[in-house]
Amino acid sequence: MKTSYFRPSIDEMSAYTPGEQPKVSNLVKINTNENPYPPAPGVFETIRKFNADRLRLYPQPTSDAVRKIIAELNNVEPSMVIAGNGSDDILNIAIRSFCAPDLPLACFTPSYSLYPVLAAMQQAPVLKISLNSDFSIPDDVLKQTTNANLLIIARPNAPTGNSFPIAQMQKIIKGFDGIVLVDEAYADFADDNCMALVKDFPNLIVSRTLSKSYALAGLRFGYAVASPSIINGMMKIRDSYNVDMLTQEVASAALLDQEYLSKTKETILKTRALLERELTSLGFKYIASQANFLFAMPPDRDGQRLFDALRADGIIVRYFPGEITGQYVRISVGSDVEIERLLQTAKRIYN
Ligand SMILES: Cc1ncc(COP(=O)(O)O)c(C=O)c1O
Repeated sequence: MKTSYFRPSIDEMSAYTPGEQPKVSNLVKINTNENPYPPAPGVFETIRKFNADRLRLYPQPTSDAVRKIIAELNNVEPSMVIAGNGSDDILNIAIRSFCAPDLPLACFTPSYSLYPVLAAMQQAPVLKISLNSDFSIPDDVLKQTTNANLLIIARPNAPTGNSFPIAQMQKIIKGFDGIVLVDEAYADFADDNCMALVKDFPNLIVSRTLSKSYALAGLRFGYAVASPSIINGMMKIRDSYNVDMLTQEVASAALLDQEYLSKTKETILKTRALLERELTSLGFKYIASQANFLFAMPPDRDGQRLFDALRADGIIVRYFPGEITGQYVRISVGSDVEIERLLQTAKRIYN
């Protein structure tokens, strides 16, 4: 008998490690960049009115109604939009479309740790490009990515929260001989984004999610915008019914309430500013954030110590071990009450 029936590459790879989802609810959970506020009122109404009898039938396979709404919001054609079961599904479709054992993926480190895991599933080599010490993109990035067929850039980046200049993005997209996927999971919190560049660059894909800014992480809806020919090809790769019927309708309701989106964004950015001020007064440093989280370095540069102290007080943040990342913790911008709880513990330790 064989010791394993898996493809050897599956036995060799490690699974993605998601942030902790604790079973008890009395913890302050600011570890996975979820939104502390509820989704838009239309989301509640859509779910309340949904007739479960309809679930006997398959959903509309290509998510046409919600793609039309996304197209209008982003000023593109519906043929330039693909919908997915979260943006993780979009990333997976992209890597299955463009990466293979002879078609490497390029991505940055530190960045979203799912990218190399998805590449490993396709037995695609990964070129991991180190960001500079301030987490900016190195000038020679195009030299380092010459063999790659897909380059993924999280903008704003996770877990660091910083963005990259648009002019630098344009230069990279223009100079890269392959597909550039800009993962804009956090772009709704940022000053600018790359969506308008899709019309200028046939090799650009921009992905978005409803998990963060729309407070729908539990629903699972994401999408990508690119040229019709790229979207056409990606459509071949996706599961036949990759977005369920209820999700298509709830996502539409959420997207249609842009006023609610702006209001929650403003509230979160105000809390982020408060967190920045208070941490600075305690001697912390942080990376200027364009997202709904802050990559913060305590005065002793010991991220693990802060993570453990917070955990002991019932507050969960995210800690990324490593020579550089280990000097920080990543704090999701929760409600003011949650951030106050975090600051109390931080004051006890560092004051
Ligand atoms: C950079 C980045 N991209 C994508 C995702 C995944 O989002 P989704 O919930 O849409 O799968 C995350 C989630 O943490 C993320 O940080």
